[in-house]
Amino acid sequence: MRSHYCGGINESHIDQEVTLCGWVHRRRDHGGVIFLDLRDRDGMSQVVVDPDTPEGFALAEKVRSEFVIKVTGRVRRRPAGTENNSMPTGQVELLGKELSILNAAATPPFPLDEHVDVGEDVRLRYRFVDLRRPEMINRLRFRSRVTSYIRNYLDGNGFMDVETPILTRATPEGARDYLVPSRTHEGSFFALPQSPQLFKQLLMVSGVDRYYQIAKCFRDEDLRADRQPEFTQVDIEASFVDEETLMGLNEDMIRSLFKDVLDVELPSFPRMPHAEAMQRYGSDKPDLRIPLELIDVADLVESVDFKVFAGPAKDPKGRVAALRVPKGGDLSRKQIDEYTKFVGIYGAKGLAYIKVNDLSKGVEGLQSPIIKFLGDDVALAMMERVGAEDGDIVFFGADKTTVVNEALGALRIKVGHDLELLTSEWAPLWVVDFPMFEETPDGSLTAIHHPFTAPSCSVEELAANPATALSRAYDMVLNGTELGGGSIRIHNEQMQEAVFRILGIGEEEARAKFGFLLDALKYGCPPHGGLAFGLDRLIMLMTGSSSIRDVIAFPKTQSATCLMTQAPGEVDDKQLKELHIRRRKSAKAAEGATSGTLAGAEQAKSE
Ligand code: AMO
Ligand code: AMP
Repeated sequence: MRSHYCGGINESHIDQEVTLCGWVHRRRDHGGVIFLDLRDRDGMSQVVVDPDTPEGFALAEKVRSEFVIKVTGRVRRRPAGTENNSMPTGQVELLGKELSILNAAATPPFPLDEHVDVGEDVRLRYRFVDLRRPEMINRLRFRSRVTSYIRNYLDGNGFMDVETPILTRATPEGARDYLVPSRTHEGSFFALPQSPQLFKQLLMVSGVDRYYQIAKCFRDEDLRADRQPEFTQVDIEASFVDEETLMGLNEDMIRSLFKDVLDVELPSFPRMPHAEAMQRYGSDKPDLRIPLELIDVADLVESVDFKVFAGPAKDPKGRVAALRVPKGGDLSRKQIDEYTKFVGIYGAKGLAYIKVNDLSKGVEGLQSPIIKFLGDDVALAMMERVGAEDGDIVFFGADKTTVVNEALGALRIKVGHDLELLTSEWAPLWVVDFPMFEETPDGSLTAIHHPFTAPSCSVEELAANPATALSRAYDMVLNGTELGGGSIRIHNEQMQEAVFRILGIGEEEARAKFGFLLDALKYGCPPHGGLAFGLDRLIMLMTGSSSIRDVIAFPKTQSATCLMTQAPGEVDDKQLKELHIRRRKSAKAAEGATSGTLAGAEQAKSE
């Protein structure tokens, strides 16, 4: 239908006849001459229609925003003084000769002007219009370029693209499953994969040797700006490799990707043990662009009268840490109160601080509501420990270690941004030496990565000291976001059984849930390992977007719904019956209902 994209004409086309198709971005009527900005995915061109072409002119008078039209005409230089240097097509315009309206359009739900602020709800409801905006379509184009680069890179390194099932059994990645009821097997459910983890391991047993897939994953978990219920992984697995090979290859892939599509030379990725990341940054995904660090001071306050500090200092599960903020002494009372409220989100009960006015005056030069509780010596010793300088503020957190890490870890990032302390644009790293397990509130152990991750010790050592065992897992972190994670896997049946035992998965349950994996480990499973990147997060970071919703064509809301299709939606009773499912009132809906709800529910269960 067309000869060029709207964004593709320039001075080299002057005097040529071209045909453009697209959407009318704007129509301006300049007394007798009509200007149309015609837009398509590649950009915009100015079309001029004058009364010398009466038919075209009559149609141009009718078109409105977002009408779909086709124009044929001659490219000419814009008259001197009317050029638009901010547009690639800004030196030329199309003198329209023939114009046809391919489709009319209702008034758009919001103007497509990039600078207009439109609520996200409206944008998501009319996503098909929202995606027409250049910044949106450009993100999709960017995403496509990245996936194409990654595919080429992995193809070039001997990786094979293999698809794995979507209708499958639960894969434990720590979130709730999305379940799909089976019509043909009454009472049974498929689970949508939280990741292709087990299938990719089975492909290694099959001898695929190097696998990748750009895979959809599904997790029913609490959503945030960097989490969607349905997201995409660049999923990778390889056989006969160790951590070095895998980390080296993936680091090289990300660095060459950044070079190719952004022309950014990432530094080589430092490696940091998990324990060090928690100690220094309170986080297993530290944002190393921010130069602030948590510093332990528990030993200094163990025996002060101030219970708020002394308690956690003496508690083996407690932590007392300081965060020195250079030049933070100017923070107002109001700002400090806001930070105190902020750390409250993470469970901190307060935010003690010391302002450093003039160290040469000793304790007289410090300003703080807690010095009277700590005593002068302790206050000065703490200032020395953190390397305080005049003009600083030092914040303190005292609580359970997890609370202090989360609260001061988050504060570090917030203050770093607020006071513009970032030292670089990109700060990648590998976090390594993760513990195998972590303790849940009920005292049992859960896998930090997933139950198929190999420990860095023997079966016997693992069984003897599970809580302190380290794993062969690694995470790639960029600017405080976990971009990807993986591990060397267990390839030996005894080790896999030992891990299941520690996780409280009995032999019977292990057989029922993972019998196929245990079988596969028996039939010649090579040593293997891999990693998965969150593709949406990668694109979010590379495009400087604030949410992964902005880099997904059709994302869900924070409450896991699609405003456009209205999914999830009701289904009719006939369909439910076929699936052997009966609706049961939720506790909320049943509120106020007469007794018998429970009996009804029991009945529904047994039917
Ligand atoms: P993991 O659970 O760490 O590992 O996931 C890998 C990467 O996927 C991204 N990610 C998400 N992105 C958007 N929304 C979500 N809800 C979401 N959840 C995770 C993150 C994360 O780093 N099978 C293992 C990988 C392996 O061991 O090879 C796995 O899925 O960027
Ligand atoms: P209080 O004795 O509770 O008034 O607290 C005195 C100071 O200590 C205030 O500045 C509080 O914000 C701070 N504070 C209280 N609890 C904690 C805590 N768990 N960690 C750090 N500071 C705290």
